[in-house]
Amino acid sequence: FNMRYFIDELPIPKVATPFRTLHNVHEYRINITDFYHSFHSDIPPVLVRGYGSQYPGPTIVNYRYVKTRVHWENKLLANSTFMNVETIPAGLTTNRIVTHLHGHDSDQHSDGLPEDTVDPGETFTTNYDNEQPPCFLWYHDHSLGNTRSQVYAGLAGIYLIKEPALESRLNLPEGEYDIPLFLQDKIIAKTADGSYIQYYPYEWQMTFYGQIVIVNGRVWPYKQVKTRKYRLRILNGCNQRFLRLRFSNNMTFTIIASDQGYHSQPVYNVDQVVLSPAERVEILVDFCDYAGEDIILLNDAPTPYPYGSKVDPCHQGRLMEFVVDENDGDESTCAMWDEQVHLHEAPVHAINSLMPSDAIKTRDVVLIQDFQISDMPVQGTRFPNGTIKHFMYEDPPTEIVKAGSTEIWRIFNFAPETHPIHTHTSAFKVLHRQKFNATLLKENGKNLQLIGPATMPDVFETGPKDVVQAPPSEVTTVLVKFARKVGTFLWHCHIAEHEDNMMMRPLVLA
Ligand code: C2O
Ligand code: CU
Repeated sequence: FNMRYFIDELPIPKVATPFRTLHNVHEYRINITDFYHSFHSDIPPVLVRGYGSQYPGPTIVNYRYVKTRVHWENKLLANSTFMNVETIPAGLTTNRIVTHLHGHDSDQHSDGLPEDTVDPGETFTTNYDNEQPPCFLWYHDHSLGNTRSQVYAGLAGIYLIKEPALESRLNLPEGEYDIPLFLQDKIIAKTADGSYIQYYPYEWQMTFYGQIVIVNGRVWPYKQVKTRKYRLRILNGCNQRFLRLRFSNNMTFTIIASDQGYHSQPVYNVDQVVLSPAERVEILVDFCDYAGEDIILLNDAPTPYPYGSKVDPCHQGRLMEFVVDENDGDESTCAMWDEQVHLHEAPVHAINSLMPSDAIKTRDVVLIQDFQISDMPVQGTRFPNGTIKHFMYEDPPTEIVKAGSTEIWRIFNFAPETHPIHTHTSAFKVLHRQKFNATLLKENGKNLQLIGPATMPDVFETGPKDVVQAPPSEVTTVLVKFARKVGTFLWHCHIAEHEDNMMMRPLVLA
């Protein structure tokens, strides 16, 4: 690589401005185009595909109960070939788009479902009621068979729901001290003519990993910070790469929020988190004791997770650097917040207080990976020895739930890697995990033999979630609360290559 470490400043994605506010609805126009983006000052700009001519897309800041309408305008050139991939159904092109707001309880027509793509020149309009508690969501493309290349190309951005009246009581860092870190891995390759491209293969691949983990659109940036507390909102926007994050000085931090919002109490003294694709975590970091130090944000998650190969510590292993100011002697900045963050005063997600006894049903779902069917590995869900349940074209819905109800889902993973499972229009609480005898269960689907004691969720999974890591040969049990919305939505693996390979099922709320 001819890019130096930590010489570009960390960019903060610009906040979108509504073009009008009518009847208390903030209305945005966000165009989708191909444009050149600077990943690093040592290389020329590279062609990306993005929202609002920026990568990551503009951050949409919302206030709870205030509605938002977004016109996602497909301004791509009909004949542009940004990336050409093989899983797109006949008759569709790579220039169709549809935007999904991940983690929002949307109506079906605003959810951005894979079959709702629009052509260049057309606009996809969505309405969001923002009624859920404050949270850190993200929007991304969800095109049928093409999500992986569209998101990789840059079609992703941050969406926040805030509730200042309640959140201000928490005394959390705000403004310039509240920093999003949008992480996405990429291969940036030099071509024969000396220009640079984002490389993505034409053929579907079971595993594809970028060489560098890019932060807010910049390769190995640095951020100068004061000797005080910061709030970091971290999103794993990678297609497939899990990120096990920690700081080079081993400093600990406090977790305050997960995918769907605040925990009911902060988790103190955490030194690492593992984020699968689409997972978010919000942490408080105190740089007070590290005046004058350079602290690197590190990743050491194997690929595939958890049993794959090690990361290259020089490339995917380091993400960015925090350059802590010399102590200015102003001790007050260190004591600005109480040691106790009173999250119980926060607008906490209802899922936090739900109990397994609130569930009206226990449902078993199965993740499989089968290489015998064709040359492309079949991924899907099925009951052992039953037919493989594919995406909605091929098999009718099987997950039909009562809108507004709570269920226990037991996710059995027969595959050799962890799949991050995401359910639309719902929130969940991770209950526990347990190993099971996969060979025995595969035989007839009846011999469920659980092995050893159940394990409790990791500390970063104790808040409200919308993605859960389902490890191999384990049954992951979650309590899912479905929104009071009626329609056909989705649940799927959030490894983009897997969802494009039909590891996705309808979720019907009736
Ligand atoms: Cu973030 Cu169905 O996706
Ligand atoms: Cu998967």
